[in-house]
Amino acid sequence: MTTVERQQLIDEARQARENAVAPFSKFKVGAALRTKGGRIFHGCNVENCSYGLTVCAERVALLSALAAGQREFTAIAVMTQSDEPSTPCGPCRQLMWEYCGDIDVILANLAGRTKDFKLAALFPEPFYFSLED
Ligand code: THU
Repeated sequence: MTTVERQQLIDEARQARENAVAPFSKFKVGAALRTKGGRIFHGCNVENCSYGLTVCAERVALLSALAAGQREFTAIAVMTQSDEPSTPCGPCRQLMWEYCGDIDVILANLAGRTKDFKLAALFPEPFYFSLED
């Protein structure tokens, strides 16, 4: 991914954040997931009055991409309003690992701070299983 493509992904995560449905936490999150072919899928967090059904921005972007038939990904940008760019929650890390592998994770905040990781650094020793016949 070029510097321009990286910045585009961050910008699109910022844009996706605008659609966040976060009346309970007031913490809006946007995500932009880039496929191997260069398409970008967007997600925002969607909260719910029973709280537990809330879905994170990263998962919305990933499930949207999977539902569109995409299977190979290279990077995800996540935009939040925190002072330090916030890192994805555990369940999102698990899901991203399963469907995206060791992608680039770009964490950003509204003030323009960014932190770059490989997913393996954020999620060492993931759960996975395979069955032998
Ligand atoms: N949230 C995300 O969208 N992504 C994360 O990685 C962590 C948390 C959302 C869920 C909830 O709507 C709000 O942030 C506060 O936890």
